[in-house]
Amino acid sequence: MNHRLTALCAVLALSGRALAQLPPPPVPANNPLTPEKVLLGKAIFWDEQLSSTGTVSCGTCHMPEAGGSDPRTRLDPEASLHPGADGLLRTADDVHGSPGVPAHDVSGAYQRDPLYGFHRQVTGRKAPTVIGAAYSRHLFWDGRAEETTVDPETGQPLPSPLAALETQVLGPPVSSVEMGFGGRTWSDVTARLAAVAPLALSDTIPEPLASFVAGRSYPELFTLAFGSPEVTAPRIAMAVASYERTLIPDHTPWDSVLAGQFVDQVLTPEEHLGLQFFLDPSRGDCLTCHGRPPSMIHFGDDRFHYIGVRPATEDPGRFAVTGRPQDLGAMRTPRLRNVELRAPYMRDGRFNTLEEVVEFYNRGGDFDAPNKHPSIRQLNLDPSGVAAIVAFLRRPLTDPRVAAALPPFDRPSQYADSTHVPQLLGTGTPGSGGLVPELIAIEPPKVGAGHLTVALDGALGGAPAFLLLSASHDPLGVPRFGALVYPTLAGSTFVSVPALQGQGPGDGWTSAVLPVPSAPTAIGTQLYAQWFVLDPGAQGRFSASRAVGLTWY
Ligand code: HEC
Ligand code: HEC
Repeated sequence: MNHRLTALCAVLALSGRALAQLPPPPVPANNPLTPEKVLLGKAIFWDEQLSSTGTVSCGTCHMPEAGGSDPRTRLDPEASLHPGADGLLRTADDVHGSPGVPAHDVSGAYQRDPLYGFHRQVTGRKAPTVIGAAYSRHLFWDGRAEETTVDPETGQPLPSPLAALETQVLGPPVSSVEMGFGGRTWSDVTARLAAVAPLALSDTIPEPLASFVAGRSYPELFTLAFGSPEVTAPRIAMAVASYERTLIPDHTPWDSVLAGQFVDQVLTPEEHLGLQFFLDPSRGDCLTCHGRPPSMIHFGDDRFHYIGVRPATEDPGRFAVTGRPQDLGAMRTPRLRNVELRAPYMRDGRFNTLEEVVEFYNRGGDFDAPNKHPSIRQLNLDPSGVAAIVAFLRRPLTDPRVAAALPPFDRPSQYADSTHVPQLLGTGTPGSGGLVPELIAIEPPKVGAGHLTVALDGALGGAPAFLLLSASHDPLGVPRFGALVYPTLAGSTFVSVPALQGQGPGDGWTSAVLPVPSAPTAIGTQLYAQWFVLDPGAQGRFSASRAVGLTWY
């Protein structure tokens, strides 16, 4: 009997006996798990101030309600679109990734990206889950995150190497797509973290994290976790990795089976049928990769396979790391716990539903290559077979604490989901080409945040422009938001900028970096801002963007 059939028997015939259960993830000897480190890591993971715009935390792209992946990939597909290998949007190789930050420089000024303009740039792959990532030896779809031996901040060799999970943390804060300005270094990141009030952008913080933070600074929290106040890159990596090691999704119905309950008492008849197809090499043949037979703990094998989602050359996958031809287009098999919550699926987010995924396997994949895995072949499942596999992937593999964001999957609230995000008002006034200039303001109006950028796009290139700031829009009438006005000057300030970049109608852009008040007395006061562009094509010679209203908090 081969090993897969052994697994089948283990579960179906011998069930009712305890099987191997989900163990805690491995912990490297140089980073023992402590409650203080876990709490510090949780604070950093959910702190949007880790990004230079104050708009992106690790959690922005890794939310419990999306099973540890990015809910925006599904809820805001337009903003999550990456052009894929051909560099063109809305073609067959597009990727459904995660929005990060607008392209910007060290001063906070935005730079117009050829593809995204001033909108958030998007990652080239879908965000995999962080929940259970601590079990993998190689992280990322291509497994490229492995141990680090050099301190990224000092360039000096580390006393002992950082493990893959720690190493992964070192990427996003200095990525100019995900969290940082172009050229951001780890010294910039640690200096910023040392200066901000931990989780200042979160209106609610769950216990025990709230008591741990309790008005302390990051250096004080680092002292609690590491014994001294230095905020360093390896320490940030160790704290965040420690937090990730506590995200163990072991309350699924399947865990009751592993603990010894009878399969048919835990699963419905349809889920049970789905399980049989999932295991059976002559039906679904899923366990070959989604489980290292006979283990059915993770539903992944931590290995890399080309399965024909897209042509193997489009995203080289594991090949980029190993250079071995058999790895071309190969991705790491995703673990399937909580997969129900993580739509859309695959490294490019191509399939919206689990039904689409199982149909993909049923037809034997969509593309071929010499290294395509032999298990990816026509399965001849009828619709009820497909439905049964999907039923097994849903409830039985889902830990209800994840979607409900219950401990340990609870989290601080995020600025990006709050009512503090600046609101656009009015309609603006069109200029040359009939175009209304676009105002972009996404950063937190947080007292003490240093600066806040307000950008302008889609105006008349080369034209003079200014940003009008006012504490009110009524009754002074400044700014007026809609119908054309010559702004009255009372009670308002101008921010003048050099003539707009770009040429011709619709191509003009700039951005203004506004100083942010630091006195607590500013809290609760309001600011309105609106761009005006001297544009001969506008009725009355000024085109105007919509206005933005914000309340300092
Ligand atoms: C802008 C979105 C974004 C942000 C911000 C972000 N990630 Fe990710 N994360 C991704 C994407 C996309 C990948 C997959 C990249 C790849 O495979 O090439 C990923 C991969 C990972 C993985 C690997 C999971 C696995 O199973 O291989 C971990 C762990 C992770 N991120 C943790 C973090 C941490 C910690 C932070 C903050 C320091 C962070 N992420 C910030 C989008 C993001
Ligand atoms: C040859 C190994 C292999 C086999 C067999 C296999 N898978 Fe997969 N599976 C993978 C890999 C690799 C991916 C990721 C591919 C990618 O993103 O390009 C994947 C992705 C998935 C996903 C999407 C997960 C996510 O987070 O996006 C689901 C669901 C899934 N497989 C279920 C199944 C089911 C059900 C079967 C059996 C019908 C099956 N797999 C058979 C290797 C395999």
